[in-house]
Amino acid sequence: MRPFLFLSLSLCHIAISATWQDASNDTRCVLSGPAGYSLLGSVRNCSNIVISGLQVPAGQTLDLTKLKNGTTVTFEGNTTWGYREWTGPLVSVSGTNISIKGAPGSALDGSGELWWDEKGQDGKQKPKFFQAHSLSNSAIEGIRIVNAPAHVFSINGCTNLTLANVTINSTLGDRLGKNTDGFDISASSNITILWAMVYNQDDCVAINSGTDIVFRGGLCVGGHGLSVGSIGGRSNNAVKNVVFENSTIKNSQNGVRIKTKYGENGTVDAVTYRHIQLSNITKYGIDVDQSYGATGRAPTSGVKITNFSLANVTGTVDSKATRIFVNCGETSCASWLWIGIAVAGGKKSSKCLYLPSGIVC
Ligand SMILES: *[C@@H]1O[C@H](CO)[C@@H](O)[C@H](O)[C@H]1NC(C)=O
Ligand SMILES: *[C@@H]1O[C@H](CO)[C@@H](O)[C@H](O)[C@H]1NC(C)=O
Ligand SMILES: *[C@@H]1O[C@H](CO)[C@@H](O)[C@H](O)[C@H]1NC(C)=O
Ligand SMILES: *[C@@H]1O[C@H](CO)[C@@H](O)[C@H](O)[C@H]1NC(C)=O
Ligand SMILES: *[C@@H]1O[C@H](CO)[C@@H](O)[C@H](O)[C@H]1NC(C)=O
Ligand SMILES: *[C@@H]1O[C@H](CO)[C@@H](O)[C@H](O)[C@H]1NC(C)=O
Ligand SMILES: *[C@@H]1O[C@H](CO)[C@@H](O)[C@H](O)[C@H]1NC(C)=O
Ligand SMILES: *[C@@H]1O[C@H](CO)[C@@H](O)[C@H](O)[C@H]1NC(C)=O
Ligand SMILES: *[C@@H]1O[C@H](CO)[C@@H](O)[C@H](O)[C@H]1NC(C)=O
Ligand SMILES: *[C@@H]1O[C@H](CO)[C@@H](O)[C@H](O)[C@H]1NC(C)=O
Ligand SMILES: *[C@@H]1O[C@H](CO)[C@@H](O)[C@H](O)[C@H]1NC(C)=O
Ligand SMILES: *[C@@H]1O[C@H](CO)[C@@H](O)[C@H](O)[C@H]1NC(C)=O
Repeated sequence: MRPFLFLSLSLCHIAISATWQDASNDTRCVLSGPAGYSLLGSVRNCSNIVISGLQVPAGQTLDLTKLKNGTTVTFEGNTTWGYREWTGPLVSVSGTNISIKGAPGSALDGSGELWWDEKGQDGKQKPKFFQAHSLSNSAIEGIRIVNAPAHVFSINGCTNLTLANVTINSTLGDRLGKNTDGFDISASSNITILWAMVYNQDDCVAINSGTDIVFRGGLCVGGHGLSVGSIGGRSNNAVKNVVFENSTIKNSQNGVRIKTKYGENGTVDAVTYRHIQLSNITKYGIDVDQSYGATGRAPTSGVKITNFSLANVTGTVDSKATRIFVNCGETSCASWLWIGIAVAGGKKSSKCLYLPSGIVC
């Protein structure tokens, strides 16, 4: 494969040295192997960037920010990063009308096993994986992430972004991996995640803020479930119009979850979970916790949770788990509608607080 590297790069250089417009069509600008990274700056204006078996040096970000409008980035083969204790990210992307694709069989391999120490964000510094900040009218499709050292997608300040067929497999970290969140979303709108498969050890999805967010047809295994939160104490503490649907959560601590921070303010409005299948949930099947971060203290009412709908949430929790736990502040939970809840196994909570009318634990 290596001989083609030189050829591809040459084509790319010809294209971009001719005129900037000439590079705006389909010339493939390939970055490959151990030497490819040093050429990143020279393909920045290219609209067809191919990352092929690239070996990114330790401590470096594969910086694909401020891409030209309309750029396609295709990952081929196995993209790897060298080992360093740092905070990352390993990849960063921004721009408008960007298409990021994974070719069949390709992987972005974070070699998390080199960092995992059972301590997550409190242990040695671990790089976060994939930063999509200020990425609009764009799509990320068919990407396979393997063995993430820590959190995977950080989606912030994005509008009109679809992530389809993204797979995250950090199963190897089931013993030592921690804080390996799948999709963390904040300050973003119109984000759609379709057919994701996430094998990890923390939230499958965690929505801290944002509006018009859909997660559909997903599978979450080994982690902490589909979460809204934790809410509060950030620059944006408003979540509105979120739908999780047609998804399965298994071998996870929680299934459906809203967590809001003790003593903080915010709003969680119009969150819906429907057609959700649970199995082997080890802590809470359905969990609303308004004392997050201060377990045991009385929940607080600064974050309002309104128009919270559950429909057709079914399945089983582990025998030691609790089916439903609702720990609301005195005045913060209202206008909830739950129908078709059938969670079996485990036990019923005797500690639910301030349930809105019509809701039972
Ligand atoms: C690439 O762009 C140039 C100038 O804009 C144009 O002449 C050429 O036909 C384009 N090539 C393709 C394959 O679209
Ligand atoms: C990229 O395009 C910009 C704007 O046309 C230009 O200023 C810059 O020199 C180009 N960079 C490269 C590496 O070609
Ligand atoms: C990007 O290109 C599209 C189509 O060519 C155009 O409609 C849009 O205005 C451009 N967006 C930006 C931010 O330049
Ligand atoms: C990627 O390459 C590294 C280094 O050769 C290897 O250890 C790893 O197993 C590969 N990952 C995948 C998913 O093929
Ligand atoms: C949401 O984003 C998608 C692209 O991901 C776009 O096709 C759609 O038009 C957007 N919808 C709204 C209401 O903005
Ligand atoms: C998002 O998509 C909608 C519908 O296509 C469009 O009106 C809006 O301008 C887009 N937002 C951004 C930031 O481009
Ligand atoms: C996602 O994967 C499914 C099944 O493999 C395929 O049919 C579909 O075209 C893919 N969609 C996208 C947007 O990648
Ligand atoms: C996830 O990766 C592990 C190896 O780390 C492998 O055994 C397992 O089959 C993979 N799971 C999926 C669904 O591909
Ligand atoms: C979700 O699943 C339900 C029940 O199986 C089905 O009726 C509905 O069409 C599905 N929705 C989507 C958007 O696929
Ligand atoms: C249930 O999930 C836990 C936690 O992921 C896992 O350790 C256990 O093996 C699972 N049990 C079964 C029967 O799959
Ligand atoms: C929450 O809002 C109340 C009422 O506006 C205010 O008094 C309090 O300081 C806020 N708390 C925080 C942590 O921002
Ligand atoms: C309930 O959701 C399950 C998936 O969890 C789906 O198979 C079933 O068709 C749904 N039932 C109804 C009545 O929509």
